[in-house]
Amino acid sequence: MRRSVRVPLYDQIKTRLLEEIETGRTKPGDRMPSERQLTQTYGVSRMTARQALAELESAGYLRRVQGKGTFASLPRIDQPLLTLTSFTEDMLRRGLKPGSQLISADLVPAGAQVAMALDVPETEPVVRIERLRLAGDQPMALETSHIVAALCPGLLERDLSVQSLYGTLRDHYGHHLDKARQTLEAAAASSYQARVLSMREGAPVLLMERVSRNGEGRAIEFAQSVYRGDRYRFTTELNRDAAPEPTGLAGHQ
Ligand code: GLP
Repeated sequence: MRRSVRVPLYDQIKTRLLEEIETGRTKPGDRMPSERQLTQTYGVSRMTARQALAELESAGYLRRVQGKGTFASLPRIDQPLLTLTSFTEDMLRRGLKPGSQLISADLVPAGAQVAMALDVPETEPVVRIERLRLAGDQPMALETSHIVAALCPGLLERDLSVQSLYGTLRDHYGHHLDKARQTLEAAAASSYQARVLSMREGAPVLLMERVSRNGEGRAIEFAQSVYRGDRYRFTTELNRDAAPEPTGLAGHQ
C-alpha cells in the first residue's frame, strides 16, 4: 500500500475495504479479513487494523460476531426525520427495491392505545395490518398499521404486499397524509421480532410510533414500526434559531 503522508493508514485500509463492499466484490455476509490478516497484508500495526475495522463497523458496513469473525453487511439507510414519507418512497429514493410480506390483516376493535391515537371509541372497528418491510430481499422493518375501517371500506381486500399503503389511502380513499407525529426509541428485539427480522434476540432495534393525519387534522393511520438498529440512522437538521430561550440556567456560561 502506498503510504500517503496526509491520509492516515487506517483510513487507507478502510477505503480499500469499502471499495470491496461497494463494488460488490465482497457481498453482505462474506467474511472480512481479520485484524491479523490486515496487519500482514498491509504491514500495519494491529491498532491501525483495529481502527479501520471499528470505523467500518460503526458506519454499518460490517458486523463483528464474537468468536466467529468479521462479516460484511449492508450500509445503514440514512433517513431524514422531518419529512413525512412512506416506506416505499424511502427505499425508492435510495435506489432500493421496496417490498413487503403480509403477515396478517384483520378487522379488530381499536382497544385503548389505538383508540387514543386515532381519536375513536375503543370499540371502533379498525383494520390492523402487519407487514415485514423489505429492501430487495433484506428485512428492514416490521410494521403494524391501524386505520379506522369506516375510512377505507374494502381495504382488507387490497393486496398490501404489493401496493403502498400510503398510495392506496391516497388513490383509492382520497386520504392525503399531510402531517404526522412520530416518536422514536431504542429497544432490544423480542424473540418474535428477531425471528421475523432475521436478527438475534436482544439485538438493538428502533421503535417508531407514528400518527398520520390528513389536511383537516383527522388521524388516519397509527403505526408501530420496529426498525433494525443496524440498518437505520436518522438524521435531523438542527437550527439554532428554533432553540427555546434557556431558563433557570444561571451560572452556566
Ligand atoms: C412508513 C411509516 C408507516 C407507514 C408506511 C407506509 O414506513 N412508518 O407508518 O405505514 O410508511 O408505507 P407504504 O406506503 O410503502 O406501504
